[in-house]
Amino acid sequence: MAALVDGWASAMGVPEPERQRWLRAVWLHDALRDASREELERWAPTTPGPPELRHGPASASRAKSEGETDRGVLDAVRYHSVGLAEWDMAGRMLYCADFLEPGREFARARRAALAARLPGDSAAVLREVARDRLKHIVASGWPLPEPTVRFWNSLAASGRSSSR
Ligand SMILES: [Fe+2]
Repeated sequence: MAALVDGWASAMGVPEPERQRWLRAVWLHDALRDASREELERWAPTTPGPPELRHGPASASRAKSEGETDRGVLDAVRYHSVGLAEWDMAGRMLYCADFLEPGREFARARRAALAARLPGDSAAVLREVARDRLKHIVASGWPLPEPTVRFWNSLAASGRSSSR
């Protein structure tokens, strides 16, 4: 996943400090993916729900306690499973990379095509990734977390104005 994000940063010609922010978000985001229930409780005591929804907030809390001070990087990690309307590029790239990383088995061709398109059309690819991820949540019958709804509405609104 770091290689994917690194490749996007190079192709997009982003300055080195920005590339480092994206990579920190990648390195930090799944720090507690396989943590015990007790550890998640310790780092994210106020976040309800299953581990899939708690490991982001827990990983962000731990990153902060270990010295990460960049609000955009922390928000990228905290909300990587649900989305956040206010994200900067670190959050947006992490959300895309989490879905498009080549290590996953499903929809390989479609995801590879989106990953290749991202540097030239990152806003449109972000919307496609969000659409796929939301489709999956809705098809599973799970409720949509409130930040996810706001995130999607912000993307849908910007997509409509840019296509006019
Ligand atoms: Fe994760």
